Amino acid sequence: MIDETAGFEPPTSDDRLIWDVWLSVYQFPTLAVADALGVFPLLKEASASSEEVAEQLSLGPRATEALLGVLTSLGFLEQRLSRFHLTDVARNFLLPNSPYYWGGIFELVRDIPFTCSTLREALKKDKPIGYEGDDVWETHELDPEQARLFTRAMHSHSFPAAVGAARHGDFTGIRRLLDVGGGSGAFCIALAQEYPEMYFTVAERPVVCTLAEEYAAHYRLQDRIDTASLDMFGDPWPSGYDAHFLSNIFHDWSWERCRLLARQSFESLPSGGRIYLHEMLLEDTRDAPLAVTSFSMNMIFFTEGKQFTAGELEELLGEAGFEEIALTPTYGYYSLVTGRKP
Ligand SMILES: C[S@@+](CC[C@H](N)C(=O)[O-])C[C@H]1O[C@@H](n2cnc3c(N)ncnc32)[C@H](O)[C@@H]1O
Repeated sequence: MIDETAGFEPPTSDDRLIWDVWLSVYQFPTLAVADALGVFPLLKEASASSEEVAEQLSLGPRATEALLGVLTSLGFLEQRLSRFHLTDVARNFLLPNSPYYWGGIFELVRDIPFTCSTLREALKKDKPIGYEGDDVWETHELDPEQARLFTRAMHSHSFPAAVGAARHGDFTGIRRLLDVGGGSGAFCIALAQEYPEMYFTVAERPVVCTLAEEYAAHYRLQDRIDTASLDMFGDPWPSGYDAHFLSNIFHDWSWERCRLLARQSFESLPSGGRIYLHEMLLEDTRDAPLAVTSFSMNMIFFTEGKQFTAGELEELLGEAGFEEIALTPTYGYYSLVTGRKP
């Protein structure tokens, strides 16, 4: 017990960091609720005063002040002459008719029971408990509506990064690409626009293949994107591809399973074939950036994986036999780690 009769020194730092972290629990819910209330489309054509927003959303002045205050201090709105405007980030990612709308993530995440006790359980057991302990991918197979919700969420967070990967990655000379665990096919869609001579197959679990076909049809790319139903661990990978693309796949699995995937890719590619790993990378010290350390915590909660450093992915590719291993930062927090089969 501290002896308080002896008096006490002032703390040697201030406590804003603790305040910031505690109160950050309101940030995501505020953004998701603002999305559900329609705050962003309301400001699409013209700015509005707080009173106008309150009237349009049928909210009281206290609620509107809190809502607009958080959204503005987070950087989604700007206030000029007492009127609220969308920022560029909000225009890109928070308008439902934008191709880069992040609404799928809000819809998926808002009902997930993420609490201190569930996180503690996941950390102690070192096992995912995001779907109440059930296997995420099996759950999707049994519940196609959950698979749709999840795939839409992946599409909404991956499509902007897919456009960045297509722009900044080097895909020259590739004719046929297999997108392993490709989800909606976001990367095939983005690459198809950038490389008109390329053809694509999304290799996925059966329930997700149906969804990927819907996305390809939506972008009128059925003639260039098809699907192959497979279990990437248990089934042989189809031949005839000169590149394998795996985005946000290694981060779902243990080191051993990643080894297996790298080996599987190496064995089924022809000589000269290329592998592309698309991931949000940890710095070498594994303690930054914050979004990526937090993404690792998300992986603890839902999967058996974690985020990797560039060095770890390079090691996995090198061990499988790939050469000419290279790292290319592509978009936001994402990078490509690539290798070529000699
Ligand atoms: C995190 S998502 C990544 C989706 C997409 N590549 C992206 O970056 O947006 C992982 C994907 O792996 C797929 N998947 C999981 N287990 C699989 C398996 N055994 N065989 C094939 N695909 C699998 C899931 O259905 C899911 O779409």
